[in-house]
Amino acid sequence: MNKHLLSINDLTAADITQILDTAVQMHEVQHRDIKKLPTLRGRTVVNFFFEDSTRTRGSFELAEKWLSADSLNMAGKGSSLSKGESLRDTVMNLQAMGVDGFVIRHMSSGAQQQIASWVSGVVINAGDGTHEHPTQALLDAYTMRRELGDLDGRHVVICGDLRHSRVFRSNVLCLAKLGATVSVVAPPTLMPDGIRTWAERDGFTWSHDFDAEIPKADVVMMLRVQKERMSGGFFPTPREYIAGFGLTPRRLELMRDDALICHPGPMNRGLEISSDAADGARSVILDQVSGGVAVRMSVLYHLLAGEGETA
Ligand code: NCD
Repeated sequence: MNKHLLSINDLTAADITQILDTAVQMHEVQHRDIKKLPTLRGRTVVNFFFEDSTRTRGSFELAEKWLSADSLNMAGKGSSLSKGESLRDTVMNLQAMGVDGFVIRHMSSGAQQQIASWVSGVVINAGDGTHEHPTQALLDAYTMRRELGDLDGRHVVICGDLRHSRVFRSNVLCLAKLGATVSVVAPPTLMPDGIRTWAERDGFTWSHDFDAEIPKADVVMMLRVQKERMSGGFFPTPREYIAGFGLTPRRLELMRDDALICHPGPMNRGLEISSDAADGARSVILDQVSGGVAVRMSVLYHLLAGEGETA
């Protein structure tokens, strides 16, 4: 396995399978009365979040605690960056305190790559701008695998604000490595630039016709409309967005009975996803969150445990 986890491309298909298999064992810890393994005793991890987060940050923190690592939580606000210190100086100071691992979320695509070139510790990307969010794709695959078994030949339809989504970018890479078929749907304004060449390279298909894709799906993954990253009007009105791209009660009828519904959160209920879809029997949205802790435990274990330490 690579030293850092910056992109899904840092992992081979065998690495992904290994991480997901270890996560199955880690998940058991979550259901114990005493949620504690000694695996990362003596290791120190900093969670450095320059963007807001509930699930990713919370699950990394819990994963570190349950593996007995010592952790430090920092936000961009509240650090000396606001006094004009450079990002490099800030992380070099944390490194000087003896940090072994950096879990970082940053609003700029590629920031973690840059940080990895500066520090000697392990860097885990918890979301960089619109680029990648590898642990999210891993936990999505974990959740799908738990429900469906092997993902080889399964069809995943991803619909939403693809232009701004790092979850989408990591997912197409991860799902391709696991042998799944992926089709993606968005309105023209929320399709990333260069989607044509990109789809050819990474082996997925794209369209603007959600109704046509839904019946093929083993999994429908809905992505959030990222209003905070939008400078102008990317669609005329919420009503029109819902009509074309919302997972509405009508569209639930188009889904196969055994198909799953995923969403990485946070959800805009009533926009990209209806409450009927989010809270219905086919939704695995909270399973994604639960599996997210196990997957992050597994990633931390694989990247930070020393030789001879077992899960
Ligand atoms: C996503 C993110 O931050 O990239 N959320 C998450 O990590 N669960 C998706 C989003 O913000 O819409």
